[in-house]
This record gives sequence, C-alpha cells and structure tokens, in this order.
Amino acid sequence: MAEPTILTAQHGDGDRRTAVITLNRPKQLNALNDELMDALGEALLRFDADPAVGCIVITGSEKAFAAGADIGVLAQHDFISAYTSDLITRNWEHIRRVRKPVIAAVSGFALGGGCELAMMCDVVLATDTAKFGQPEIKLGIIPGAGGTQRLPRAVGKAKAMDLVLSGRLMDAAEAERSGLVSRIVPADRLMAEALALGEVICALGEASVLAAKESVNRSYEAPLSDGILTERRLFHAMFGTPDQKEGMEAFLAKRKPVFKR
Ligand code: HXC
Repeated sequence: MAEPTILTAQHGDGDRRTAVITLNRPKQLNALNDELMDALGEALLRFDADPAVGCIVITGSEKAFAAGADIGVLAQHDFISAYTSDLITRNWEHIRRVRKPVIAAVSGFALGGGCELAMMCDVVLATDTAKFGQPEIKLGIIPGAGGTQRLPRAVGKAKAMDLVLSGRLMDAAEAERSGLVSRIVPADRLMAEALALGEVICALGEASVLAAKESVNRSYEAPLSDGILTERRLFHAMFGTPDQKEGMEAFLAKRKPVFKR
C-alpha cells in the first residue's frame, strides 16, 4: 500500500489538544502534490471543526518542511491546462479558512510552495538548519501560492525582491531577522517547542484566541482604519465571554485562571 502523504496525531491531556500534521513524502523532500494538498486541506478543516482541538502544528521531516510544489507534476502542464485546471491553487486555500492558530514547525528546506505554506501559518518556528526561499524563477515561473504577496508583507519589498528575483535561499537567522520566522529553536527541540506553544494556546480562552487571530489577520487585508475598527469590535465582544470574567477575576485574586470550554 502507498504511504499516506500526511500523518496526523494529537498531543496534550487538557480539555483541548494540539493536532500535529506531518507532511510525509520525505524521499521527495515533501514536494507538494495534489494528493498531499487534498489530505492536508481535509485534515486542517477537520481539526478546525473538532472542539477537542485548540491548535494545529504543521511540520515536515528533519531535511525538509517542503521543497515546493512537485516539479514533476508542474512540468507536465502548459498554459491552457494550468489555467483551466486552476493548477496548484485549487486546493491551497483551505488553510486560510482555519480559524484556530496554525504553527509551522520548520526544519530544513521550506522552498517555493513550502515557503508559501509556512507563510500561510500563523506562527513559524524554525530550527537553525532551516532554509527559506522562492526559487521558482530558476524554473522559469514565479511563485503561485501567494509568495509575491506574503513575502513582501513579511520581510519588506527590498528583501522580497532580492529573494524572488534571484531565487537565492536565506538561512534561519536571516529569516528571523527579516520577520519571516517567529523564533529559532534548537533542532532537537523543534517539536517540543511547537507542542509547548500549542499547550499554552490550548489552555487560553477559545473565543479570545480566535478573535486575536482574526484581528491580526485583518491587518493583512484591510486599510488601517478598518483593521482598527475590527479590533475594537472584537475587543468589546470579548467582554461578553466568561473567559474575560475568569481572566480578570483570577488576576485580581492573584490566582491562575481556568478557562472552561
Ligand atoms: C519534486 C523534488 C522537489 C520538488 C526535491 N525533489 N524537491 N521533487 N518537486 N520541488 C526530489 C529530488 O528530485 C530528489 O528526488 C529528492 O527530492 C531529493 O532531492 P535532491 O535534489 O537530491 O536533494 P539535495 O541535493 O539535498 O537538494 C535539495 C534541494 C533541491 C536544494 C531542496 O531538491 C531543490 O532545489 N529542489 C527544488 C526546489 C524548488 O525549486 N522548489 C520550488 C518548486 S516550484 P530523487 O528521485 O532524485 O531522489 C513551486 C511552485 C509553487 O513550489 C507554486 C504554487 C504552489
């Protein structure tokens, strides 16, 4: 039987757990094909709908988070087939519908579509071996899953142009300095750190976690005045939740808050 293209597991023993999705085409450096992206999208939406899951981690192998879209598949296309089949992008947008936090735990290569996938996540943890880049230009194409849009927002236009126009890779230190990576962690601690962050998020109030993600994401899409308004509305809405009562009462009573589902 063929190996599954992703592996899933759940971690933690609280009310809500962290779901881990491992990209599983290690021999192809987790090159992203339709089968894998369908499975990833299905798992993301399933975990998002599961009340027992509070946070999702996407990871790859030690050598590669993902070395991009599967070039063997891309090579078979011409313009007409790419355009009419909505090549690649068809099953790449599921992650944008996920309301729970998604952490990318990156070791090794995160290139092309792999870098784009990491950028679609909310937090990017990387080992010091991680390498990021948009090398599509070397294949005679350009990024196609948001790379030319999210990279400049993450690292600024000057560095995005440098990377996209040359196809060069940047190491984890440069990626962290530039704002693409949230934190660098020791290679042997990658999953432990991702799960520790997942555990922190799972123990927080669910409504405030979803609202915080929604509000930060608005800053990507909306003019500042609209983003500020979204934030204000969500901020006010939080005062209707039991979590706000519990969080503030606990602070004032000098005890640890217990956020209930
Ligand atoms: C298909 C790939 C692949 C990919 C690696 N492999 N990347 N197969 N698609 N994107 C395969 C190799 O063919 C090889 O298969 C095996 O994985 C191991 O790779 P090697 O090249 O032998 O490893 P190494 O020498 O360590 O080099 C690692 C690497 C290199 C630098 C990451 O593999 C590489 O440059 N890969 C392509 C990176 C890239 O261009 N990505 C962008 C793709 S386009 P065999 O069978 O020989 O063992 C893209 C467009 C996105 O992502 C559009 C929207 C989503």
